Amino acid sequence: MKKDLISNDIQLNASGKLVHLLGLEGLSKQHLTHILDVADDLLDAQGNLKKSKALDDMSVANLFFEPSTRTRNTFEIAGKRTSANIINVDLANSATKKNESLLDTMHTLKAMQIDMFVIRHKQSGLPHYVAENIGNVAILNAGDGINAHPTQALLDMLTIRQYKKNFESLSVAIVGDILHSRVAHSGIQALKTLGTKDIRLIAPEGLQYESKNCDTIKCFTDIETGLKDCDVIMVLRLQKERMMEADIPNEQEYFDNYGLTFERLALAKPGAIVMHPGPINRGVEIDSSVADGEQSVILQQVTNGIAVRMAVMEILAGKS
Ligand code: CP
Repeated sequence: MKKDLISNDIQLNASGKLVHLLGLEGLSKQHLTHILDVADDLLDAQGNLKKSKALDDMSVANLFFEPSTRTRNTFEIAGKRTSANIINVDLANSATKKNESLLDTMHTLKAMQIDMFVIRHKQSGLPHYVAENIGNVAILNAGDGINAHPTQALLDMLTIRQYKKNFESLSVAIVGDILHSRVAHSGIQALKTLGTKDIRLIAPEGLQYESKNCDTIKCFTDIETGLKDCDVIMVLRLQKERMMEADIPNEQEYFDNYGLTFERLALAKPGAIVMHPGPINRGVEIDSSVADGEQSVILQQVTNGIAVRMAVMEILAGKS
């Protein structure tokens, strides 16, 4: 499915209220800011997570058809911290292995009185298809193919806001395999919606997503030029699972040309933060000491993922 054919229209009801979270296209600055504000309220002054009773009458099912460490576990923790009954559906041992269709599986789970489905799938648009075909259940997209990863983008925005306060004046560089990255696609949308004036996409030509420059977005093949004086650097891994074997770059060559080293980080503003959605491939897209260095906020992104996922579930449940 082509990315630009996937519509998020059904995620808002006639009153403009969020009823699914499928992607960030179509959501206003007010929608995004509200999610970030609710997430902020779920963190105390030290950045520790609070608990809520918001979903104590609800059941949430995690359906991860693709591997995940961060998203799956933080959704589970977020569900528990909002007092939901959360079920991790064991897809490896489910009736999908006996050729039950995806929709039949979803209808079966719905009959178990599940209120929300969290879905990760390799096929772009799969959560949208489920949302269109199953009524009265909220669908949360936890990453679909190369299309979107909305809660990752929201946790990234929360992290940026914690350090940089406003988006308008920021220069944000996204470095790496942008073409295959649902994180980048949702992140670019979030940055645009929140008013970021200078978004820089740094990638080898074969891994660029936006081929056209516009007022807000500038593409770079040269990392040194792209990083100059930026406030935020978001590093992406090579998503080999979405590449043809012949297109996979040589890792050493890639690191030499695009790896984030301390020398390259020094080209950014002194207070620049280093982000990465994970999983990290040390020595490929980022030097290990940069990933663990003082400017890295990578593990804070993980914690923020819980607050953002709690916030989204509360909002979809009509509790925030
Ligand atoms: N960032 C991210 O989606 O990580 P996982 O694949 O571990 O969920």
